[in-house]
Amino acid sequence: MYLLIPAAGSGRRMGSDRNKLLLPLLGKPLLAWTLLAARESKSIRWVGLVGQPVDFPDFKEIINAVGMSKMVHLIPGGSTRQESVYLGLQNLPVVAERVLIHDGARCLVTPGLLDRCVEAIQTCPGLIAAIPVKDTIKIVDSTSHLVSQTPARENLWAAQTPQAFVVEELMRCHTQGRADNLEVTDDAALFEHYGQPVKIVEGEETNLKITTPLDLAIAEFILRQRLNKTL
Ligand code: CTP
Ligand code: MG
Repeated sequence: MYLLIPAAGSGRRMGSDRNKLLLPLLGKPLLAWTLLAARESKSIRWVGLVGQPVDFPDFKEIINAVGMSKMVHLIPGGSTRQESVYLGLQNLPVVAERVLIHDGARCLVTPGLLDRCVEAIQTCPGLIAAIPVKDTIKIVDSTSHLVSQTPARENLWAAQTPQAFVVEELMRCHTQGRADNLEVTDDAALFEHYGQPVKIVEGEETNLKITTPLDLAIAEFILRQRLNKTL
C-alpha cells in the first residue's frame, strides 16, 4: 500500500515558530512517532512525506533516525493541506491503485489502525477512520452566536485520519475541487461532495491530532502509558 503523509503545515495553533511536527515529544520529534507507526505497519510499502522544502533536512534526519526500511519520498507541499495532498497524489507512482492518507500530526496512530484501513479499502472506494463524538455538538450562527441547531449525537462521528481511497477517484475529486474552488479540511469531504460513498472504519480515541500545546501534553501521557505497558 502507498501512504501519503501531509506534513507541510506550520503549526500556527501550536504557537510554535516552526513546523510543529519537529517539536519534541518524549525524546523524539513528533513526526518520528508517525513514521514509526508506518514502519511497523505490515501493509505499507511506500511512503510519500509531503513537506515544505525548508524542513527537508530535518525530515531526512528523522527518517534516518527512525530506520525506515521502506522507501520514503520527500514531496514539496503547498499552502493548504488540500494542496499538499493534491501534490502528493501527483507524485504517486502510476501503478498505485489505492492510497492511504495519514496526517503527520496524528502521531499516536497505531500500526493496527493503519493496517485495518488498508484491509478495508480493498472492498470500497473511500473510507475514513472516525469515532463517535462524546460531546453534544451545537450548530452556531457565526454572527449572532446563537445556537441554530443541535444534531442528534448518534449521527455524529469525529473524522480522523487514516483516510483511504481509490487513487483514480480521489484524483478526479481533487482536480474537480480545484476547478470549483472548493476548500475542504479533509479528502473525504471532496469525495462526498462529488457523490462518492465514504465508509467509516472505527478509529481510536488515542489517535488525536496534535494541534495545541495541551494536545502535546496529552500525547506525552498516552505514550508514557504505552511504553510502560511494553516494559
Ligand atoms: N498540512 C500540510 N500542508 C499544509 C497544511 C497542513 O501538509 N499546507 C498538514 C500538517 O502538517 C498536518 C496535517 O496537514 O500534519 C493537519 O493539519 P493541521 O493539524 O492543521 O496542521 P498545521 O496546518 O501545521 O497547524 P495549524 O492549522 O495550527 O497551522
Ligand atoms: Mg492547518
